[in-house]
Amino acid sequence: MKKKDKINILLEEYNKAPSEYRVANYWANYETQLINMIEGLDLGQMRSGKYPILSTFGFIDGAYTFHPRLSFWKKLIMKFFQHYVIKNRAILPYKLRKSDIEEMAYRHCELMCDSTNSVPISNIEVSEFGNPPDLFEINGSKYTVPFLSYYRRYCFANKHMSLKGDEVIVELGSGSGYQIEILKKLYPNLTILCFDLPLQLYLCEEYLTNALGETDIVGIENCLKWNDLSNIKKGSVHFLGSWQVPLLNDFQFDIFWNAASFGEMEPDIVQNYLKYIKGNAKWIYLMQARHGKETAGEISVNTPITFEDYNNFLSGYKILAANDAWHSHKRLSQSGGYFEGVWAEIK
Ligand SMILES: C[S@@+](CC[C@H](N)C(=O)[O-])C[C@H]1O[C@@H](n2cnc3c(N)ncnc32)[C@H](O)[C@@H]1O
Repeated sequence: MKKKDKINILLEEYNKAPSEYRVANYWANYETQLINMIEGLDLGQMRSGKYPILSTFGFIDGAYTFHPRLSFWKKLIMKFFQHYVIKNRAILPYKLRKSDIEEMAYRHCELMCDSTNSVPISNIEVSEFGNPPDLFEINGSKYTVPFLSYYRRYCFANKHMSLKGDEVIVELGSGSGYQIEILKKLYPNLTILCFDLPLQLYLCEEYLTNALGETDIVGIENCLKWNDLSNIKKGSVHFLGSWQVPLLNDFQFDIFWNAASFGEMEPDIVQNYLKYIKGNAKWIYLMQARHGKETAGEISVNTPITFEDYNNFLSGYKILAANDAWHSHKRLSQSGGYFEGVWAEIK
Protein backbone atom coordinates (compact mmCIF):
# COMPACT_ATOMS: atom_id res chain seq x y z
CA MET A 1 0.00 0.00 0.00
CA LYS A 2 1.30 3.49 -0.88
CA LYS A 3 2.37 5.85 1.92
CA LYS A 4 -0.45 8.31 1.18
CA ASP A 5 -3.14 5.58 1.22
CA LYS A 6 -1.85 4.10 4.48
CA ILE A 7 -1.87 7.50 6.18
CA ASN A 8 -5.36 8.31 4.85
CA ILE A 9 -6.82 5.02 6.09
CA LEU A 10 -5.23 5.50 9.50
CA LEU A 11 -6.56 9.05 9.83
CA GLU A 12 -10.00 8.00 8.60
CA GLU A 13 -10.27 5.28 11.27
CA TYR A 14 -8.84 7.57 13.94
CA ASN A 15 -11.32 10.34 13.14
CA LYS A 16 -14.19 7.90 13.75
CA ALA A 17 -12.80 6.90 17.19
CA PRO A 18 -14.42 8.06 20.47
CA SER A 19 -12.62 10.94 22.23
CA GLU A 20 -11.06 8.67 24.90
CA TYR A 21 -8.75 7.16 22.21
CA ARG A 22 -7.68 10.47 20.68
CA VAL A 23 -5.15 13.13 21.63
CA ALA A 24 -5.75 15.10 24.79
CA ASN A 25 -4.62 18.69 25.38
CA TYR A 26 -0.87 17.95 25.48
CA TRP A 27 -0.70 16.32 22.05
CA ALA A 28 -3.23 18.50 20.17
CA ASN A 29 -0.63 21.00 18.93
CA TYR A 30 1.93 18.32 18.00
CA GLU A 31 -0.78 16.44 16.10
CA THR A 32 -1.47 19.43 13.82
CA GLN A 33 2.26 19.88 13.16
CA LEU A 34 2.61 16.19 12.30
CA ILE A 35 -0.35 16.15 9.93
CA ASN A 36 1.09 19.17 8.10
CA MET A 37 4.52 17.61 7.52
CA ILE A 38 3.94 13.86 7.15
CA GLU A 39 3.46 13.70 3.37
CA GLY A 40 6.69 15.55 2.59
CA LEU A 41 8.72 13.56 5.13
CA ASP A 42 11.81 11.77 3.79
CA LEU A 43 11.90 8.53 5.81
CA GLY A 44 15.58 8.12 5.04
CA GLN A 45 16.21 11.27 7.12
CA MET A 46 13.69 10.61 9.91
CA ARG A 47 16.42 10.39 12.60
CA SER A 48 18.78 13.00 11.22
CA GLY A 49 17.41 15.92 13.23
CA LYS A 50 15.90 17.46 10.07
CA TYR A 51 12.38 17.05 11.56
CA PRO A 52 12.36 18.33 15.20
CA ILE A 53 8.67 17.39 15.67
CA LEU A 54 9.64 13.69 15.49
CA SER A 55 11.79 14.15 18.60
CA THR A 56 8.58 14.57 20.63
CA PHE A 57 7.97 10.83 20.38
CA GLY A 58 11.46 9.39 20.47
CA PHE A 59 13.26 10.06 17.18
CA ILE A 60 15.95 12.09 18.90
CA ASP A 61 19.33 10.57 18.18
CA GLY A 62 21.91 13.34 18.11
CA ALA A 63 23.73 15.01 20.96
CA TYR A 64 22.54 18.30 19.48
CA THR A 65 19.09 17.39 18.16
CA PHE A 66 16.70 20.25 18.85
CA HIS A 67 13.30 20.00 20.48
CA PRO A 68 10.58 21.88 18.51
CA ARG A 69 9.91 24.12 21.53
CA LEU A 70 13.44 25.57 21.53
CA SER A 71 13.52 29.21 20.36
CA PHE A 72 15.21 30.24 17.10
CA TRP A 73 17.97 32.13 18.95
CA LYS A 74 18.79 29.28 21.32
CA LYS A 75 19.05 26.93 18.30
CA LEU A 76 21.37 29.36 16.54
CA ILE A 77 23.65 29.73 19.55
CA MET A 78 23.73 25.96 20.13
CA LYS A 79 24.55 25.31 16.46
CA PHE A 80 27.41 27.78 16.63
CA PHE A 81 28.85 26.08 19.74
CA GLN A 82 28.32 22.62 18.30
CA HIS A 83 30.13 23.35 15.02
CA TYR A 84 32.85 25.78 16.06
CA VAL A 85 33.48 25.33 19.80
CA ILE A 86 32.54 21.97 21.34
CA LYS A 87 33.04 19.34 18.61
CA ASN A 88 34.77 16.51 20.50
CA ARG A 89 37.07 18.78 22.51
CA ALA A 90 37.77 18.15 26.21
CA ILE A 91 36.08 21.37 27.34
CA LEU A 92 33.24 20.04 29.49
CA PRO A 93 33.72 19.75 33.31
CA TYR A 94 36.45 17.25 34.32
CA LYS A 95 37.83 17.67 30.76
CA LEU A 96 35.05 15.49 29.36
CA ARG A 97 34.64 14.96 25.62
CA LYS A 98 31.46 13.85 23.85
CA SER A 99 33.12 10.49 23.21
CA ASP A 100 33.76 10.08 26.98
CA ILE A 101 30.04 10.55 27.65
CA GLU A 102 29.20 7.93 25.00
CA GLU A 103 31.65 5.45 26.49
CA MET A 104 30.37 6.07 30.03
CA ALA A 105 26.81 5.47 28.79
CA TYR A 106 27.97 2.12 27.42
CA ARG A 107 29.77 1.18 30.64
CA HIS A 108 26.65 2.13 32.63
CA CYS A 109 24.73 -0.41 30.50
CA GLU A 110 27.34 -3.09 31.15
CA LEU A 111 26.99 -2.54 34.91
CA MET A 112 23.18 -2.57 34.69
CA CYS A 113 23.39 -5.82 32.73
CA ASP A 114 25.57 -7.49 35.39
CA SER A 115 23.40 -6.36 38.30
CA THR A 116 20.12 -7.41 36.65
CA ASN A 117 21.17 -10.70 35.03
CA SER A 118 20.25 -9.35 31.61
CA VAL A 119 21.37 -10.12 28.05
CA PRO A 120 24.53 -8.09 27.31
CA ILE A 121 24.38 -4.92 25.23
CA SER A 122 27.32 -6.27 23.20
CA ASN A 123 24.92 -8.84 21.65
CA ILE A 124 23.10 -6.13 19.68
CA GLU A 125 23.65 -2.89 17.78
CA VAL A 126 21.45 -0.04 16.63
CA SER A 127 19.93 0.29 13.15
CA GLU A 128 21.36 2.98 10.89
CA PHE A 129 18.04 3.53 9.11
CA GLY A 130 16.90 7.16 9.14
CA ASN A 131 20.44 8.54 9.25
CA PRO A 132 21.00 9.01 13.01
CA PRO A 133 23.81 11.47 13.79
CA ASP A 134 26.34 10.65 16.52
CA LEU A 135 26.59 6.93 15.88
CA PHE A 136 29.64 5.51 17.63
CA GLU A 137 31.27 2.10 17.69
CA ILE A 138 32.35 -0.04 20.61
CA ASN A 139 34.03 -3.38 19.89
CA GLY A 140 32.90 -3.09 16.26
CA SER A 141 29.17 -2.62 17.07
CA LYS A 142 27.19 0.59 16.47
CA TYR A 143 25.33 2.49 19.19
CA THR A 144 23.67 5.80 19.96
CA VAL A 145 23.18 7.19 23.47
CA PRO A 146 19.33 6.92 23.17
CA PHE A 147 19.63 3.27 22.05
CA LEU A 148 21.61 2.61 25.23
CA SER A 149 18.96 4.42 27.30
CA TYR A 150 16.19 2.10 26.04
CA TYR A 151 18.49 -0.85 26.76
CA ARG A 152 18.85 0.42 30.33
CA ARG A 153 15.05 0.51 30.73
CA TYR A 154 14.99 -3.13 29.62
CA CYS A 155 17.59 -4.05 32.31
CA PHE A 156 15.50 -2.42 35.03
CA ALA A 157 12.35 -4.25 33.88
CA ASN A 158 14.20 -7.54 33.46
CA LYS A 159 15.47 -7.40 37.03
CA HIS A 160 11.88 -7.75 38.21
CA MET A 161 10.37 -9.88 35.42
CA SER A 162 13.27 -12.20 34.42
CA LEU A 163 12.26 -12.45 30.78
CA LYS A 164 12.36 -15.92 29.20
CA GLY A 165 12.14 -14.58 25.66
CA ASP A 166 8.73 -15.89 24.55
CA GLU A 167 6.54 -13.33 26.32
CA VAL A 168 3.67 -11.33 24.82
CA ILE A 169 4.23 -7.60 25.34
CA VAL A 170 1.69 -4.82 24.77
CA GLU A 171 3.12 -1.32 24.44
CA LEU A 172 0.83 1.69 24.34
CA GLY A 173 2.43 4.87 22.97
CA SER A 174 5.40 3.10 21.33
CA GLY A 175 6.50 6.33 19.62
CA SER A 176 9.63 5.67 17.57
CA GLY A 177 9.62 1.95 18.45
CA TYR A 178 13.16 2.08 19.87
CA GLN A 179 12.12 0.04 22.93
CA ILE A 180 10.75 -2.70 20.65
CA GLU A 181 13.94 -2.63 18.57
CA ILE A 182 15.96 -3.38 21.72
CA LEU A 183 13.62 -6.06 23.04
CA LYS A 184 13.23 -7.89 19.72
CA LYS A 185 16.96 -7.82 19.00
CA LEU A 186 17.65 -9.30 22.46
CA TYR A 187 14.77 -11.81 22.33
CA PRO A 188 13.72 -12.63 18.72
CA ASN A 189 10.77 -14.81 19.86
CA LEU A 190 8.85 -12.10 21.68
CA THR A 191 5.34 -11.32 20.42
CA ILE A 192 4.64 -7.59 20.49
CA LEU A 193 1.55 -5.43 20.06
CA CYS A 194 2.24 -1.72 19.52
CA PHE A 195 -0.69 0.67 20.00
CA ASP A 196 -0.40 4.36 19.21
CA LEU A 197 -1.95 7.44 17.61
CA PRO A 198 -2.14 7.15 13.80
CA LEU A 199 0.90 9.03 12.46
CA GLN A 200 3.19 7.89 15.25
CA LEU A 201 2.09 4.32 14.51
CA TYR A 202 2.82 4.76 10.80
CA LEU A 203 6.37 6.04 11.49
CA CYS A 204 7.00 3.37 14.12
CA GLU A 205 6.08 0.66 11.60
CA GLU A 206 8.34 2.19 8.95
CA TYR A 207 11.24 2.37 11.37
CA LEU A 208 10.86 -1.13 12.82
CA THR A 209 10.34 -2.70 9.38
CA ASN A 210 13.78 -1.37 8.48
CA ALA A 211 15.42 -2.01 11.86
CA LEU A 212 14.11 -5.58 12.32
CA GLY A 213 13.30 -6.74 8.78
CA GLU A 214 9.91 -7.31 7.14
CA THR A 215 9.52 -10.93 8.23
CA ASP A 216 8.96 -9.93 11.85
CA ILE A 217 6.22 -7.42 11.05
CA VAL A 218 2.42 -7.74 10.88
CA GLY A 219 1.60 -4.28 9.59
CA ILE A 220 -1.11 -1.70 9.90
CA GLU A 221 -2.80 -2.86 6.66
CA ASN A 222 -3.51 -6.21 8.32
CA CYS A 223 -4.17 -5.23 11.93
CA LEU A 224 -6.42 -2.26 11.21
CA LYS A 225 -9.18 -4.56 9.98
CA TRP A 226 -9.15 -6.87 13.01
CA ASN A 227 -12.28 -7.39 15.10
CA ASP A 228 -10.41 -9.62 17.55
CA LEU A 229 -6.84 -10.76 18.24
CA SER A 230 -7.16 -14.33 16.90
CA ASN A 231 -4.74 -13.61 14.02
CA ILE A 232 -1.79 -12.64 16.18
CA LYS A 233 1.39 -14.18 14.78
CA LYS A 234 3.68 -15.58 17.47
CA GLY A 235 7.12 -13.96 17.40
CA SER A 236 5.98 -10.92 15.36
CA VAL A 237 5.46 -7.22 15.98
CA HIS A 238 1.90 -5.96 15.34
CA PHE A 239 0.73 -2.39 14.77
CA LEU A 240 -2.68 -1.22 16.06
CA GLY A 241 -4.37 2.14 16.50
CA SER A 242 -5.05 3.50 20.00
CA TRP A 243 -8.79 3.08 19.30
CA GLN A 244 -8.22 -0.69 18.95
CA VAL A 245 -7.16 -1.08 22.61
CA PRO A 246 -10.64 -2.53 23.49
CA LEU A 247 -9.57 -5.63 21.47
CA LEU A 248 -7.46 -6.45 24.55
CA ASN A 249 -10.61 -7.23 26.52
CA ASP A 250 -10.15 -10.80 27.84
CA PHE A 251 -6.76 -11.11 26.11
CA GLN A 252 -4.19 -12.52 28.55
CA PHE A 253 -0.63 -11.28 28.06
CA ASP A 254 2.61 -10.96 30.01
CA ILE A 255 3.74 -7.34 30.06
CA PHE A 256 2.09 -3.97 29.59
CA TRP A 257 4.64 -1.23 28.80
CA ASN A 258 4.02 2.53 28.87
CA ALA A 259 6.88 5.03 28.88
CA ALA A 260 6.51 8.82 28.91
CA SER A 261 3.03 8.47 27.44
CA PHE A 262 0.29 8.16 30.10
CA GLY A 263 1.61 11.36 31.68
CA GLU A 264 0.84 13.23 28.45
CA MET A 265 -2.84 12.22 28.61
CA GLU A 266 -5.58 13.10 31.12
CA PRO A 267 -6.48 10.86 34.11
CA ASP A 268 -9.84 9.70 32.67
CA ILE A 269 -8.14 8.66 29.40
CA VAL A 270 -5.49 6.69 31.29
CA GLN A 271 -8.09 4.99 33.45
CA ASN A 272 -10.09 4.02 30.38
CA TYR A 273 -7.01 2.38 28.78
CA LEU A 274 -6.20 0.62 32.06
CA LYS A 275 -9.66 -1.01 32.03
CA TYR A 276 -8.34 -3.22 29.20
CA ILE A 277 -4.96 -3.86 30.81
CA LYS A 278 -5.74 -4.61 34.45
CA GLY A 279 -6.47 -8.27 35.05
CA ASN A 280 -4.98 -9.18 31.63
CA ALA A 281 -1.32 -8.22 32.10
CA LYS A 282 0.90 -10.12 34.57
CA TRP A 283 3.35 -7.21 34.87
CA ILE A 284 3.12 -3.51 34.22
CA TYR A 285 6.14 -1.31 33.43
CA LEU A 286 5.68 2.46 33.75
CA MET A 287 8.16 5.30 33.23
CA GLN A 288 6.45 8.65 33.86
CA ALA A 289 6.92 12.16 35.25
CA ARG A 290 6.85 11.70 39.03
CA HIS A 291 4.82 14.84 39.75
CA GLY A 292 2.99 14.94 36.41
CA LYS A 293 3.61 17.00 33.28
CA GLU A 294 3.49 20.80 33.01
CA THR A 295 0.10 22.50 33.44
CA ALA A 296 1.03 25.87 31.89
CA GLY A 297 1.89 26.84 28.31
CA GLU A 298 0.84 25.66 24.87
CA ILE A 299 2.00 22.07 25.43
CA SER A 300 0.48 21.12 28.78
CA VAL A 301 -1.96 18.80 30.51
CA ASN A 302 -5.12 19.93 32.30
CA THR A 303 -4.63 17.56 35.23
CA PRO A 304 -1.18 16.18 36.07
CA ILE A 305 -0.91 12.50 36.99
CA THR A 306 1.51 11.77 39.83
CA PHE A 307 3.26 8.59 40.96
CA GLU A 308 0.65 8.20 43.75
CA ASP A 309 -2.17 8.43 41.15
CA TYR A 310 -0.65 5.60 39.09
CA ASN A 311 -0.24 3.47 42.18
CA ASN A 312 -3.92 4.07 43.06
CA PHE A 313 -5.08 3.33 39.49
CA LEU A 314 -3.27 -0.03 39.64
CA SER A 315 -5.47 -1.70 42.26
CA GLY A 316 -5.09 -5.48 41.96
CA TYR A 317 -1.33 -5.02 41.38
CA LYS A 318 1.54 -4.74 43.84
CA ILE A 319 4.55 -2.57 43.25
CA LEU A 320 7.84 -4.50 42.99
CA ALA A 321 10.13 -1.49 42.58
CA ALA A 322 10.03 2.19 41.72
CA ASN A 323 13.22 4.22 41.27
CA ASP A 324 14.26 7.48 39.71
CA ALA A 325 14.43 6.93 35.94
CA TRP A 326 17.76 7.26 34.14
CA HIS A 327 18.96 7.67 30.58
CA SER A 328 22.17 5.81 29.88
CA HIS A 329 24.15 9.00 30.48
CA LYS A 330 22.11 10.97 33.05
CA ARG A 331 19.08 11.07 35.30
CA LEU A 332 15.81 12.08 33.57
CA SER A 333 15.40 15.58 34.93
CA GLN A 334 12.75 17.25 32.74
CA SER A 335 9.28 17.91 34.25
CA GLY A 336 10.82 17.67 37.75
CA GLY A 337 12.07 14.10 37.37
CA TYR A 338 10.71 10.74 36.24
CA PHE A 339 10.22 7.38 37.94
CA GLU A 340 10.27 3.90 36.46
CA GLY A 341 8.41 1.13 38.19
CA VAL A 342 7.25 -2.46 37.82
CA TRP A 343 3.93 -3.73 39.19
CA ALA A 344 2.90 -7.41 39.36
CA GLU A 345 -0.65 -8.78 39.34
CA ILE A 346 -1.83 -10.00 42.74
CA LYS A 347 -3.01 -13.56 42.21
C1 LIG B 1 6.86 11.19 24.61
S1 LIG B 1 6.26 9.96 23.53
C2 LIG B 1 7.01 8.51 24.23
C3 LIG B 1 7.29 7.47 23.19
C4 LIG B 1 7.97 6.20 23.71
N1 LIG B 1 7.14 5.49 24.64
C5 LIG B 1 9.31 6.52 24.32
O1 LIG B 1 9.51 6.23 25.50
O2 LIG B 1 10.15 7.07 23.61
C6 LIG B 1 4.53 9.81 23.98
C7 LIG B 1 3.78 8.72 23.22
O3 LIG B 1 2.43 8.65 23.73
C8 LIG B 1 1.53 8.61 22.64
N2 LIG B 1 0.23 9.20 23.05
C9 LIG B 1 0.00 10.46 23.48
N3 LIG B 1 -1.32 10.64 23.75
C10 LIG B 1 -1.93 9.46 23.47
C11 LIG B 1 -3.29 9.01 23.55
N4 LIG B 1 -4.27 9.81 23.95
N5 LIG B 1 -3.54 7.72 23.20
C12 LIG B 1 -2.54 6.90 22.80
N6 LIG B 1 -1.24 7.28 22.71
C13 LIG B 1 -0.94 8.54 23.04
C14 LIG B 1 2.22 9.46 21.57
O4 LIG B 1 1.71 9.20 20.30
C15 LIG B 1 3.67 9.01 21.72
O5 LIG B 1 3.96 7.86 21.00
